[in-house]
Amino acid sequence: MAGNVNKSGLLALKALFQKHGGCTYGEGVTQIEHALQCAVAAQADGAMPCQVTAALLHDVGHMLHEDARQALLDRVDDRHEALGASWLKQWFVDEVSMPVALHVEAKRYLCHVDPGYHSGLSPVSQTTLAMQGGPMTAEQAQAFRLRPFAEEAVAVRRWDEIGKDPAAVTPSLDYFLEIAARGLRTAP
Ligand SMILES: [Fe+2]
Repeated sequence: MAGNVNKSGLLALKALFQKHGGCTYGEGVTQIEHALQCAVAAQADGAMPCQVTAALLHDVGHMLHEDARQALLDRVDDRHEALGASWLKQWFVDEVSMPVALHVEAKRYLCHVDPGYHSGLSPVSQTTLAMQGGPMTAEQAQAFRLRPFAEEAVAVRRWDEIGKDPAAVTPSLDYFLEIAARGLRTAP
């Protein structure tokens, strides 16, 4: 018999966005504006629901982190991708959590393979890139390409850079949480 999905993850997300969604971490948009804009960019590319959800939730680690903005000011890598992915794994399938886990590596990868990508990064993204290890070497890029969900993480990272427009208008968080429900794990 098929199990039921556990919707407590959606409630936890809603609470997290309510508490910290209005925070910024150096970009011109809040956490919730950034999340919604990235999800919109994924949808505009015709992404599947789990990919749209990964785009929406790729930075939840910043909101779980004690003080992501302070980490940025202190020039410390807050490892938000690992924190966010392990938190999401409680409720979501790998198609959601793994691109989140790899989206910082994907930035380092893109800076290696796409010469225009680095110069197009926001000033904050350029600063954090240095803290995150800088562009990948050719060897690192080759190894990254072989990792499961590498392609999906690269897509998330490209949407990440689009979702920083202070003037953008988006659907609500509830609209995207309905889509996110399709990526919840099924309880056995
Ligand atoms: Fe982001």
